[in-house]
Amino acid sequence: MEKITIRGGNPLKGTVKINGAKNSALPLLAASLLTLGKNSFRDVPMLEDVATKCQLLSALGAKVETSQGIVEVNADNIDTFETPYDLVRKMRASVLVMGPLLARLGRARVSLPGGCNIGTRPIDLHLKGFMALGAEIIMGHGYIEAVAPQLTGGRIYLDYPSVGATENIMMAATVAQGTTTIENAAAEPEIVDLANYLNAAGAQIRGAGTNLIRIRGVEKLVGREYTVIPDRIETGTYIAAAAITGGELLLENVVSDHLKPVVAKYQEMGVQIEEVERGLKVNSSLPLAAVDVKTLPYPGFPTDMQAQTMALLALARGTSVVTESVFENRFMHVAELKRMNASIKIDGRSAVVEGVDFLSAAQVNASDLRAGAALVIAGLAAQGVTEVGNVHHIDRGYYRLVENLQSLGAEIKRGV
Ligand code: EPZ
Repeated sequence: MEKITIRGGNPLKGTVKINGAKNSALPLLAASLLTLGKNSFRDVPMLEDVATKCQLLSALGAKVETSQGIVEVNADNIDTFETPYDLVRKMRASVLVMGPLLARLGRARVSLPGGCNIGTRPIDLHLKGFMALGAEIIMGHGYIEAVAPQLTGGRIYLDYPSVGATENIMMAATVAQGTTTIENAAAEPEIVDLANYLNAAGAQIRGAGTNLIRIRGVEKLVGREYTVIPDRIETGTYIAAAAITGGELLLENVVSDHLKPVVAKYQEMGVQIEEVERGLKVNSSLPLAAVDVKTLPYPGFPTDMQAQTMALLALARGTSVVTESVFENRFMHVAELKRMNASIKIDGRSAVVEGVDFLSAAQVNASDLRAGAALVIAGLAAQGVTEVGNVHHIDRGYYRLVENLQSLGAEIKRGV
């Protein structure tokens, strides 16, 4: 099995161009199923999850062509409402085609998405939304089916501001008859990106980026050219890597507005982050100050930055409390960090991190993509050579991570 090996101790220096956001590209590609004519998505990160989504669109009958950073989709001839089990099992975000298929074909059949390492991850809120739009839900044999010859606008109050549920319901509602309101909607930047694309395609969506989204149904949507927003989590990951090595980075292709919760917290730790003409400039000198972090829906501190930040806090001066309020099991990286001399105690949904003077290299394994990134970040500062296994998790969310870190001066490589 491939692994990443890192000899720690080199401060990172240089420039990184941030890729398009994975968690925007995936819903955007699903939304293309709603449109007639050609879509051309630019700045698409060429990640494994994006390749899986493209396979899924092709399996549904769409015409998909990819070339470096560009994905073209024509969904005129989608001919099946059923998603292949193996693709949904591989990637939970496959469930995002349900709303578009239901709206386009009046039917969608998806295998129950498996849980994953960070929690059970149900889709009850997605289904509640489809029912509010007039769909009938049929469950059985590990499959979920939604049926609605014609969707009609409705009112939905989300018990939890779920990102996926907000995206799925918003997509389905774009061509429903009448107006739909989604209350307690997720407000992440990726929701705004999706709404901007759908509106460019002819939809009538207002309020994306707030907790109240109003969608007035239209007849049809047409394919468009669209550029994916930069990846705020990839950006935060490089900020953490610069911080833990006492380095100096320039991050290009950044929307600093999307990073406010991360920048504020990292500045509290003592990381210098400055907005400059070409993007964000990051400077850091160790040791950093311990801080408390609680993950929350946007604009709170993002759960997708929790593991990376914990790696950093393992070396901060003092005691930090990290609380994970979004997922019920997103501390799988703690045991691995402890193998590297980190001093962390889990207490329910919180982890108490006592800063130590050094991390020591060890053989560790990634359990999900952000935990994998956290272990690479820890390895960049650890004494000795760290080996990170299960790197396929990392490939799902980071494009050319090893190559970029090499170009910044890290002693890192991947191999068997
Ligand atoms: C999206 O997942 C992201 N994935 C996740 O990124 C991210 O961590 C998450 O949003 C939160 O920001 C993509 O966009 C592809 P949720 P999603 O629905 O939509 C519960 C990464 O590392 N919930 O907001 O699945 C759920 O169990 C990934 O890039 C229900 O109870 O997240 C969880 O506890 C990981 N019922 C919480 O809500 C539902 O119907 C947040 O889930 C749906 C969700």
